Amino acid sequence: MKYSLLLTPLQINQLNLPNRIVMPPMVTFLAKDDGLVTQAHLDHYERSAGPGLIIVEGTAVLPEGRVSKRQLGIYSDRHIDGLTQLARNIKTNGAVAAIQIHHVGATAFAITQKQKYQQLPMILFRLLKQQLMTAGLFRIQEAFQNAARRAIEAGFDIVELHGAHGYLFSQFLSPLKNWRLDQYGGSLENRRRLLLEVFRATYRLAADKALVTCRLGIADGHRRGLSLSDGLSTAALLEREGAKLLDVSCGSGTPDYLRPEKSRYSDRLHLAHRAKSVLQIPVIGGGGIRHPDLAEQALEDGMADLIYIGRGILADPSWARKTVEGKAESIVLCRGCRPCFHLTDSSRCPARRHKQN
Ligand SMILES: Cc1cc2nc3c(=O)[nH]c(=O)nc-3n(C[C@H](O)[C@H](O)[C@H](O)COP(=O)(O)O)c2cc1C
Repeated sequence: MKYSLLLTPLQINQLNLPNRIVMPPMVTFLAKDDGLVTQAHLDHYERSAGPGLIIVEGTAVLPEGRVSKRQLGIYSDRHIDGLTQLARNIKTNGAVAAIQIHHVGATAFAITQKQKYQQLPMILFRLLKQQLMTAGLFRIQEAFQNAARRAIEAGFDIVELHGAHGYLFSQFLSPLKNWRLDQYGGSLENRRRLLLEVFRATYRLAADKALVTCRLGIADGHRRGLSLSDGLSTAALLEREGAKLLDVSCGSGTPDYLRPEKSRYSDRLHLAHRAKSVLQIPVIGGGGIRHPDLAEQALEDGMADLIYIGRGILADPSWARKTVEGKAESIVLCRGCRPCFHLTDSSRCPARRHKQN
């Protein structure tokens, strides 16, 4: 069978993934200011059906922690109904339903208070930002718990903490971004304290109702940022704390210095490969994979246990369905635009402008 590895089911605890294709979290900005699920969200995930695991986009745990006013929200009980419908639809289409819960971190303050404080010298502004974060930390932790409770109530099988890409937990993990002098800054133990506290609390709350995972940025792009060894030991700690799978990515920036020369795989996929060497649990990896041939090859090379296809699915929402149905030759391939049009205006994606079946 073509793509025999990619199409091999995987069981994780009580969850049965029909294949190894993952739709990773990707913000769509299809919400209005209230953060509620819209018909456009339902359509988007319906069109993208086919991956064994769908991780719903980074969803804000607090209104002031949004990356944009149009980000999907999970910061109020009002969000539960729409999310319930979304989780139900994903599962009806045969996938395991996960949701990524997200807070942008220190920049949240910059977004909301920028105008008020923009006259301050940068150094004062940054220190002030940190102090406010200290005061707000309890609120943020509580928001993650409430968000996880709502996700579980909505019927999601997996709750994923966004611990990558320079957002909240990634900022705390990074020695370059974390200047704190309290118990959340300084040593590695301190820098990962917030992530572990939130992970443990979410794990307790989820009990046997859902799995808890993390999209972990295993290393920063800068050599003085989060090191690979510190990222790997954090991954191992999450496994010890009960994670049953791990979604691996980068922290602040992409550590291209870790990628072997001439490798056909992305930096991010190499990070997943490194994570596999210290973990027993399944690892999700990907980045830059456009065609199922390469996804299959990555599994064969043991780079990860599950492969995520991000922009590939945005370019052709039928990517996974066509792969499963043996119609891979008709996939409309992502053109790898930089930056990706889906971050601003998906209607301008050149691949999507082509007629798709
Ligand atoms: C439009 C867009 C939105 C994204 N939103 C998120 C997000 O909400 N959370 C996240 O962890 N990563 C996000 N990402 C990163 C993707 O999940 C993925 O890791 C990245 O695009 C690399 O994979 P790819 O080469 O298969 O696209 C986003 C990427 C794109 C292009």
